[in-house]
Amino acid sequence: MAKLTMTVNGKTVSAEAEGRTLLSSFLREGLGMTGTHVGCDTSQCGACVVHVDGQAVKSCTVLAHDVAGADVRTIEGMANPDGSLGKIQQAFQDHHGLQCGFCTPGMVMSAAALLAENPKPTEAEVRHHLEGNICRCTGYHNIVKAVLAASGQDVSKIAAE
Ligand code: FES
Ligand code: FES
Repeated sequence: MAKLTMTVNGKTVSAEAEGRTLLSSFLREGLGMTGTHVGCDTSQCGACVVHVDGQAVKSCTVLAHDVAGADVRTIEGMANPDGSLGKIQQAFQDHHGLQCGFCTPGMVMSAAALLAENPKPTEAEVRHHLEGNICRCTGYHNIVKAVLAASGQDVSKIAAE
C-alpha cells in the first residue's frame, strides 16, 4: 500500500492504494465515491467512465497510481454548485435517457467529453461517440436525444421512444 494523491472534482484527495488498485476501485472504495459504476471490469460497458486531465477514460482500465497527481472528474462533479442537476444530467432526466440508471454516470461523462470537443454534434456523431457505453435498458434513442438536447439543439421533432 502507498499513499496516493490526486485532484477529484476540484479537491485534493489522498488515500492508501495498492499498486494493482484500479482507478474505479480507488474512487469507489478508497474515496467512497460510488457514483462511478463498475458494470464489467473488462473494458466493455463504459459505466466507469471518468475524465482524467480532460480526457474520458474507462476507469477500470487505469491503475490508480498511474494517475497520481492528475485532475480527475467524476459524475459527482457534474452537478451545479448549488447541487441541482447539471445541464447534461438534466437533459437525461427531461428526455428519459435512463431507466435503471446503472449506465448513466458513464453516459453522462462520455457525453460531457464529446460536447467539450464538439459542442453541436450530429445524431450520428453522438451515436458513434457513445459506442463504448452499453445500456441494457433504454435502446439508446432517448440517450442520444438527451445529449443532442444538452448541446442546445432542437430535439422537438425527434420522437420519444
Ligand atoms: S466497468 Fe469499466 S468498462 Fe465496464
Ligand atoms: S438505463 Fe439501465 S443500463 Fe442504461
